[in-house]
Amino acid sequence: MTPEDVGLLACPSCRDSLAWEGRTRGMRLDEGRLGCAGCGAAWPVAAGLPRLFSEREVRGTDRFMRVIYDGLPALHDPLVTLLTPLLQGDTEARLRGHYMRRLALGALEPRPVGPPLRVLEVGIGAGANLPLIARDVPPGLDVEVWGVDLSVGMLGRCRRRLHQEGHRGVRLVMADAHALPFPDHSFDRVFEIGGINGYRAPERALAEMARVARPGTPLVVVDEQLDGRERALRHRLAFRLLTFYTRDAHCPRELLPPTAVDVLEEQLSRYYFCLTFRMPPARAVH
Ligand SMILES: C[S@@+](CC[C@H](N)C(=O)[O-])C[C@H]1O[C@@H](n2cnc3c(N)ncnc32)[C@H](O)[C@@H]1O
Repeated sequence: MTPEDVGLLACPSCRDSLAWEGRTRGMRLDEGRLGCAGCGAAWPVAAGLPRLFSEREVRGTDRFMRVIYDGLPALHDPLVTLLTPLLQGDTEARLRGHYMRRLALGALEPRPVGPPLRVLEVGIGAGANLPLIARDVPPGLDVEVWGVDLSVGMLGRCRRRLHQEGHRGVRLVMADAHALPFPDHSFDRVFEIGGINGYRAPERALAEMARVARPGTPLVVVDEQLDGRERALRHRLAFRLLTFYTRDAHCPRELLPPTAVDVLEEQLSRYYFCLTFRMPPARAVH
């Protein structure tokens, strides 16, 4: 992240702007802090990673899941690739391909004036969706990709991927989906894959995603939900094991902001739903 990128960040406590103070390395933030002009909070930047979240707010399942993600970051992606065909009877590529179509990156168009085009992945993990974003963005279109995650271990794997695969224009922030460190209407696409059932307050996280998305843009959320037509005991048991952290893994359609439009709920596979929606343009105030 460069000092220029700080312009998009907002204080996760009060949403005021942030100012960078510290050491840069090769034009990138390295060690220092981001000071809030509004509430005076100072958010650390360590080893190039802004940490824009309040530790005391991270409770319950978020804290528990973070221990798991931080403990096994190298295993996450290989396990997904291995287990998806075994458990879901479908390939990871096909499942990921489906929600990427809902995200409609191919429909992004250059903006002659105004801020750059921006895509946000909430809970970016080790960055398994980055190659798909690169594939789907129209050739030659300049798009900033922002990824937030609460697990420093997963973000470390993601950084590795950035270097190994040479993805450009990706900004990573350690932040909590319940208090996204961005101003309203900052992103042209927003998506979250595989985490929301483990969030301590999914309704708040959905409201945050809706807040930072530009009105009219697709928002896509994917996570576990057992296909209601599934009768096989082994699949029902496997689903219970997979969703050990909650008794109620399902599509949180009822938690969407009440003003959400174009809501589409799909059963993506035996164990996954895909929820797509948009936020309407704000009404003019007279
Ligand atoms: C199942 S992984 C999915 C990673 C990636 N989206 C993918 O498709 O491979 C879920 C990710 O969500 C992150 N996560 C969980 N709770 C979070 C929260 N409250 N805020 C931000 N990220 C969170 C985890 O650290 C983890 O990296």
